[in-house]
Amino acid sequence: MSAAPGEATSQIAEHGMSAPGDATSQIAEHGMSAPGDATSQIAEHDIELALQELERLGLGRRLRTIEGPQGPRVTLDGRPVLLLCSNDYLGLAGHRRVREAAAEAALRWGAGAGASRLVSGTMSIHRDLERRLAAFKGREDCVLFGSGYLANLGAIGALAGPGDSVFSDALNHASIVDGCRLSRAQIHVYRHLDTEHLAWSLRHHGSGRRLIVTDTVFSMDGDVAPLAEIVRLARDHGARLLVDEAHATGALGPGGRGAVAAAGLEHEVDALVGTLGKALGTYGAYVCASATMVRHLVNGARALIFSTAPAPPAVAGALAALELLEEHPQRVARLRTRARTLRGALAAEGFAVPAGEMQIVPLPAGDARTALALCEGALRRGVFAQAIRPPSVPKGTSRLRLTVTAAHSDDQLRHAAKALGEAARAHANLTGIRFPPGMGGSSHLRTPTPNLAGTR
Ligand SMILES: Cc1ncc(COP(=O)(O)O)c(C=O)c1O
Repeated sequence: MSAAPGEATSQIAEHGMSAPGDATSQIAEHGMSAPGDATSQIAEHDIELALQELERLGLGRRLRTIEGPQGPRVTLDGRPVLLLCSNDYLGLAGHRRVREAAAEAALRWGAGAGASRLVSGTMSIHRDLERRLAAFKGREDCVLFGSGYLANLGAIGALAGPGDSVFSDALNHASIVDGCRLSRAQIHVYRHLDTEHLAWSLRHHGSGRRLIVTDTVFSMDGDVAPLAEIVRLARDHGARLLVDEAHATGALGPGGRGAVAAAGLEHEVDALVGTLGKALGTYGAYVCASATMVRHLVNGARALIFSTAPAPPAVAGALAALELLEEHPQRVARLRTRARTLRGALAAEGFAVPAGEMQIVPLPAGDARTALALCEGALRRGVFAQAIRPPSVPKGTSRLRLTVTAAHSDDQLRHAAKALGEAARAHANLTGIRFPPGMGGSSHLRTPTPNLAGTR
């Protein structure tokens, strides 16, 4: 891993990879034992201990249940709350037209696609959505995947393999991290948003094909990658560029076309990944690219080849959502206005709101238990803002990750900020711990996190 200039160790060892073709090591890694034998009981006990340890560290996770569709107000575990952590940024998941399109598609096409895209799973509705997405993103062609996670796994694996080099931002989403690992390429992690470090890495490393990968809007911080500079570096160093627009599509750029379109760089990016599960309100994902690149993905992306095609209701729902976005681009502007409202109201409550204008607003808490306590405090006051802790974010940077949607009202967002302020003050009175620690803003976000890709 290119952790710092001058240090040229590889991340392969950290990613725990075994030699290709070594079947024994795979069995050992998978920890297989026969059901019902003594080993599995010991494993169960070990798992229980590990779970207790996670709870002790404030890192335990559990599933919370929502009744009904996503929206500004939901019933969470039986209690009405204001929802401040959904990625349904444009409020389209529950939109009548999106729901009706999904319902009609279920009746016409069936509930599932029945097979992989390459077996019998590609339906004309898949191609319709691919053509619409390609036009929306200003690219020649597009290919759908089962999810954003699978799209990153598939696309990175098709663009880099053993003997190649991938250059990856330290705060890239876990699906990119896992795509890098699975590709078995050499992975060079550059410091978050640090194009000097990227340039250094490109100068000093890079056997085989070279691929730069980055989120455009980062999922946990809401900051934006310096795309123009990254494009320039890719060009200068003969590297391909894959960008992930999961949190930018529908939120940024002309008509919500994303950060790449905002920077006018549509034709400078080799593979543009996006998800249907966030602003487009449904489920599934896509890669927009040249026709040749799409043909390459169809032939080489294992997550496409070996996985069932997206379900027709989700595809039809996404088509309807895309139509709504194109008909009503003002939703994107409303999202930005709402983001400003929440950011301003949080600042008025005394929070050190990190700079930026996107719909993702991190409130740094530092310690995982502090983040959990604040999440619970906010819930008691009727606001659900999820605590995000390692391994989703680096150790010591736990936070509440707030997300605004175009469906929130200004009043709801002001109310949420007040509830969060009360929760933070109550927590400080109880523990003496100020929130956020030091009120110093997001300087930790720039702190090098060299082990990140190895730990998430
Ligand atoms: C940047 C980024 N890429 C990809 C994904 C995965 O997308 P999906 O939820 O469609 O699997 C996410 C999900 O949170 C994400 O934040």
